[in-house]
Amino acid sequence: MSASKPNWWKASTCYQIWPASYKDTNGDGIGDIPGIISTLPYLKDLGVETIWLSPMYDSPQKDMGYDISNYEDVYPPYGTVADMDRLIKECHDRGMKLILDLVINHTSDQHAWFQESRKSKTNEYADWYVWRDPKIINGKRHPPSNWRSIFGGSAWEYCEERDQYYLHLFVKEQPDLNWENEEARKAIYKSAIEFWLNKGIDGFRVDACNLYSKDVLFPDAVTRLHGEEFQPAEDHYINGPRMHEWLREQRQQVLDKYGDILMVGELPFTEAAEVLKYVSAEARELSCVFDFDVVMLGTPNGGGGKKHHTVRHTLPQFKEAIRKVQHLIRGTDAWTTVFLENHDQGRSLSRFATDKPQWREKAAKMLAVLMCTLTGTLFLYQGQEIGMYNHPEHWGVEELRDIDSLNAYNDVKTRHKDDPLWLKKAMKGLQLVGRDNARLPVQWDASANAGFTTGKPWIRVHDDYEAVNVAAQRADPHSPLAFWKKMIALRKQHAELMVFGTDFEVWDFFDQDVFTFTKAHPDGHHKLFVFLNFSDDLQPLHYPHGLEGMKKELLVSNLRQGEEEVGRYLTPWEARVYLVRETVLNGY
Ligand code: NOJ
Repeated sequence: MSASKPNWWKASTCYQIWPASYKDTNGDGIGDIPGIISTLPYLKDLGVETIWLSPMYDSPQKDMGYDISNYEDVYPPYGTVADMDRLIKECHDRGMKLILDLVINHTSDQHAWFQESRKSKTNEYADWYVWRDPKIINGKRHPPSNWRSIFGGSAWEYCEERDQYYLHLFVKEQPDLNWENEEARKAIYKSAIEFWLNKGIDGFRVDACNLYSKDVLFPDAVTRLHGEEFQPAEDHYINGPRMHEWLREQRQQVLDKYGDILMVGELPFTEAAEVLKYVSAEARELSCVFDFDVVMLGTPNGGGGKKHHTVRHTLPQFKEAIRKVQHLIRGTDAWTTVFLENHDQGRSLSRFATDKPQWREKAAKMLAVLMCTLTGTLFLYQGQEIGMYNHPEHWGVEELRDIDSLNAYNDVKTRHKDDPLWLKKAMKGLQLVGRDNARLPVQWDASANAGFTTGKPWIRVHDDYEAVNVAAQRADPHSPLAFWKKMIALRKQHAELMVFGTDFEVWDFFDQDVFTFTKAHPDGHHKLFVFLNFSDDLQPLHYPHGLEGMKKELLVSNLRQGEEEVGRYLTPWEARVYLVRETVLNGY
């Protein structure tokens, strides 16, 4: 596609919905599809153009729907296939798009394919999953390799019927599909992809999309975690040898039939040069990807659940991670994304800014400025628009529901024999980055359960819902919600600079408190100057050299309009954006 006629998804404002926690309409305490439909006018009004719906497929919910037992059916508490048909239509009637999650690295162990596969070594589905013989050492049975699951423990599970182990990179109820088997690949395309594209959806967010191709020799991973039986083995299953071949096959044999669909891949642990192979327009594998450098800041790589070792990152590290993602488009035909939250992360306010009560709203707006001025397809996560933040520190483990967090906690508990200091450390890490932070119910209003459900919510509602909720913020022109709406509109209005701007440069790389960057209009005639204060203190501005006194137009700031004016310094958590025109840039 030529640069003059960009794909629809490049400038689209996307919004992720995590169905269980979004909006419940039947009082069972679990969000549902009719709930999503009821809020489409709200999302449309905010400026959302594309919805990414996290897994709503039928599933035993061992990993909140990322363990699918039937791609062609809906998890009953969420609704029915007919509800999905209605959701697709209601989105399209409003000019909105809908993309679904595509989870095809693995299925649930309850999927009919796996139920058959596990029965024998000779049945029709025997080779559709990754089976290997045990390793026998001193007469004792061991897993085929020392690979560690991403959620902790061995990545192999023994199955009596076959006297073999199957591979599961995530929990044992999520067996990995064997992509080496062509018949299995064809069945995946048909059931998981074509079934929904035929219904008219506009694309997919592709789960774990660089994990399909493994080193089929399954060598032991080198020891990185001393004293541990199972070792991180990413080197043997990330960006494996056949990844690109299969993504191209999928594009040519399946996706091409459906036109310009959005395929946004989840791409953890990948260097920029390798990312480009997936997202270059010429390769036509994926439209764009979620690069994890920003959201993984401070988290140990490959520790498999060692969240208690997570530390707060520094601002220069944050800038570096953003720069990597912004620079993906520099001199290439690739495209990038902008996101700070999803269902696997702590809330961005708590992780990257501040959730201190006195700065919270201003900091939420500051992050809105950051996100809306970065180049790439923008993804907001439910509740981010009202500045939802992490659960309080005093919550105990009994409030957690996420399997990854519970595994991490229980690992510490067993290893350190209930030592209270270790357990405190475990909870501290989870309070910062645990996945349940993003999975608390959306706070719709100040009524019981934040208006999320009339029943008993499946997970505790944030204590602060009376202060932070959609209804209150809709009534307040100074709210984060009102500001997000304004920023999304401004991003549209200045799309060439904000969505498509080039030459992203950071001007204060080593500053621990302030983040200053510029971007250029592709025509070279305008520039954006963005100043962000990431501290509780007054800060001086880092003007790009020689441009301090230049003529500039203030496009937006997060100060309270009509009450505060931008001054010589940046006030705590202030954000301001200037537009500089050609005449001034001439001697630049
Ligand atoms: C990534 C998903 O975002 C996460 O929620 C899930 O647990 C794993 N992939 C496994 O599907």
